[in-house]
Amino acid sequence: MERGRRPHTSGAPRWIGPLLALAALALGACGGPFPQSALDPASDFAWKLQDLFEGIFFWAVIVFVLVEGALIVAIFRFRERPGGAAPRATHGNTLLEISWTLAPAVVLVLIAIPTIRTIWDVDQPARGESLVVEAIGHQWWWEFRYPDLGVVTANEMHIPVGTQIDVRLTSADVIHSFWFPRLGGKRDAIPGHENQIWFTADSAGLYLGQCAEFCGLSHALMKMQLVAEAPEAFQAWVDRQKSDALAADSVIAAEGSQAFMRGGCIACHKVRGTVAQGVIGPDLTHVGSRRRIAAGILDNTPENLERWIRNPQAVKPGALMVVPELDDETVRRIVAYLQSLK
Ligand code: CUA
Repeated sequence: MERGRRPHTSGAPRWIGPLLALAALALGACGGPFPQSALDPASDFAWKLQDLFEGIFFWAVIVFVLVEGALIVAIFRFRERPGGAAPRATHGNTLLEISWTLAPAVVLVLIAIPTIRTIWDVDQPARGESLVVEAIGHQWWWEFRYPDLGVVTANEMHIPVGTQIDVRLTSADVIHSFWFPRLGGKRDAIPGHENQIWFTADSAGLYLGQCAEFCGLSHALMKMQLVAEAPEAFQAWVDRQKSDALAADSVIAAEGSQAFMRGGCIACHKVRGTVAQGVIGPDLTHVGSRRRIAAGILDNTPENLERWIRNPQAVKPGALMVVPELDDETVRRIVAYLQSLK
């Protein structure tokens, strides 16, 4: 029986549309920069993952080429032809069946060996000298403590390039996950249990991180930043962070300081060197020096800080921060004060 054929009237071959769509998809991956890409490693830990990925990708490409090649050969060589005889049914071919059982097993072994080796390797505690940073997950922000340096900060972690960082992970409430894709991870931050992850950043820069374990309403907004810098720059940062809060540098900041201390802010926030000694929310001693606020979702500008203080839940749904009724002038004063805390 003659099969009906679709009339094909346009000038271009039929496959040109899908081919162009595929090309567009492939080229779409060539943009950049990709600040949160695990395929752009910048630490020893991330390179171990990258090497493993490349090894597995190599085997996947071989399997893909062989399987698709066999498929294409079969499609063209054995397709139905007009007047052709019905194909002969075959059953059982011991050699073929043994080989297509063994071949995937061999490939799986070749993938399993480096995978297990890498898992064991990155699961070891930090070896040798390292800088300890305690990272504590909170709904929804990150606290960073440097027990050997006397520094406590939030959402923006600083590290020296070329030094092994030994991150000790815990949580204050539910399970979070610490993930800087370009440096390594992910690793869970679990309440009542300490996890570890280590890495040595190989180049200076700003790295973006993200909580990678669903932890409630604003999980997707639980971001963090990491600044890797030369040892001298890192030391300068440490020195600044260790010092008590600066005195207000303007009249409006001084008025803001009074409003901050009188209002409810100090029940949750600490500003070292003042009466504000709260421990529930982020330490604000040097909040003005951070690049971003609200766990990395807003640039640290007066406008954004005002927006945040007026209605935290509008910026980060479910945020625990409670703000009393404040008039516009008071909000502006508090913003000026917080911005002065460099
Ligand atoms: Cu914290 Cu998701």
